Amino acid sequence: MVKVNENFDLIQNNYLFVEIARRVDEFQNQNPDVDLIKMGIGDVTKPLSKTVIKAYKDAVDEMADAEKFRGYGPEQGYDFLIDAIIENDFKPLGVELKNTEVFISDGAKCDTGNFQELFAKDNIIAVTDPVYPVYVDSNVMAGRSGEMSDDGQHYENIVYLPATAENNFVPELPKEDVDIIYLCYPNNPTGTTLTKDQLKEWIDYAKDNDAIILFDAAYEAFIKTENVPHSIYEVEGAKEVAVEFRSYSKTAGFTGTRCAYCVVPEELIIKNSKGEDVQLTPLWNRRQSTKFNGVSYPVQRAAESIYTPEGKKETQENLDYYAKNAQLIRESLEAIGLDVYGGVDSPYIWVKTPNDIDSWAFFDLLLNEANVVSTPGAGFGPSGEGYIRLTAFNTYEKTQQAMERISKLEF
Ligand code: MLT
Repeated sequence: MVKVNENFDLIQNNYLFVEIARRVDEFQNQNPDVDLIKMGIGDVTKPLSKTVIKAYKDAVDEMADAEKFRGYGPEQGYDFLIDAIIENDFKPLGVELKNTEVFISDGAKCDTGNFQELFAKDNIIAVTDPVYPVYVDSNVMAGRSGEMSDDGQHYENIVYLPATAENNFVPELPKEDVDIIYLCYPNNPTGTTLTKDQLKEWIDYAKDNDAIILFDAAYEAFIKTENVPHSIYEVEGAKEVAVEFRSYSKTAGFTGTRCAYCVVPEELIIKNSKGEDVQLTPLWNRRQSTKFNGVSYPVQRAAESIYTPEGKKETQENLDYYAKNAQLIRESLEAIGLDVYGGVDSPYIWVKTPNDIDSWAFFDLLLNEANVVSTPGAGFGPSGEGYIRLTAFNTYEKTQQAMERISKLEF
């Protein structure tokens, strides 16, 4: 008899953004004439840049040419893109990588969700809280979480490290033994960052405790502040304890085009049950070549073009556009007396709900009264309660409109 993976019973019925979309659809069906402004899921609105489109189209044309046509590509990605990544994303930071340490994929969501497959079931995972739900849910599905606690908010074997206004969004190092730590900086959802020194404490912790850090740097391109590291490998010793995930989704508008990569340094070695060393690079390579057939050739050419001078300039223009939206959101909400965090080195603005209204209630209030879609902080974990997240990814005009509508509300 077929037996179902009952770990799925432990997770909430709907993925956070699916649940929000459901509520928004319901609202829109009941109010078809209302012009909703979406600042919920972090999905971009600016089209792919001219340079990217040209590279994408040229590569599609190559696929129509019998001489240039390509079938299966390398599961790890084409060297032309991997080389461009190493040259442009890491060399300027003083980080040297081999091209066998970089793996191209179709998204940081897939990579961060899949990477846990390399680890035994009895590892203890730690997440900063609030947290991007994929890290938790993928471990729950894999049977690593234990039961949901009575408060309905914490899984038994997952260590939650609160990041709230009270600790300036700098989570404390775990007090208990943990094995796998998920960090995301600039942070989703709070939009906050860590300095190099703060990140170093995590590296030291991982070294002292034989732990590994899964570092999600999907929002690195939004960093403007000096001394905020773009890569965890800027911190000495990080290659021995950290995997890094990057994505073109928010950086270059690839949410629908799909391209990302992760770095698994050769220095990253853990022990098996016999006490022998196991390198993670070949393990991830084995996993990817078994379960993944690579990102399509035109998409990888499109991604490569971001690193040309013209591509860089256009990408930066789009990033600046979203940064201006983020600034507008921050300033408008502060002007009406709300406590606002993030949004400086990040497209996410984390807002304390007024009068301690709970997250979903404030989400509903913004939806019903201002017709603005946000993301309730509680959806990101227990410490997200009492906050909502807004994204800077809408157009400037819509962002302005949303701020005008919210400013008219009485709290
Ligand atoms: C978010 O809104 O948190 C992100 O868009 C989700 C994602 O990148 O998968």
